[in-house]
Amino acid sequence: MAGSWNSLAVCILFFTSVLAVEPPMLQPDEFPSDIELGSRVQIVCYLKKGDLPVTFRWNKDEKQLLTNERITISSSDSISSNLRIQRVISEDVANYSCTGTNSAGSDSFTAALIVRGNVI
Ligand SMILES: *[C@@H]1O[C@H](CO)[C@@H](O)[C@H](O)[C@H]1NC(C)=O
Repeated sequence: MAGSWNSLAVCILFFTSVLAVEPPMLQPDEFPSDIELGSRVQIVCYLKKGDLPVTFRWNKDEKQLLTNERITISSSDSISSNLRIQRVISEDVANYSCTGTNSAGSDSFTAALIVRGNVI
């Protein structure tokens, strides 16, 4: 009887360790400091650690980032997400954050887009 309880415990430990999902850890990125109006910028949200699948979400000043023909989010693989802004305008000046989420948790970082010179 004790033997079968032990095997049950071993089984539970085994499956717990196999099924344990490592939460995401992102590699923070920054915008370049010399952005000018009209230029192009890219920032990458890269999954440094953590189990897949991970979903990436981009926010602009705490709100969901709206994409359009100038502002695009693309992904060449399942471990990264790229945000690109073309023909930067003054309305793009903001804090952008990327959040990566899997079943075990999430991680995020924020990067400020600042335009060189005086805007606003
Ligand atoms: C980003 O957030 C910080 C802290 O809230 C704020 O001081 C700063 O002005 C923001 N930067 C931009 C570019 O909006």
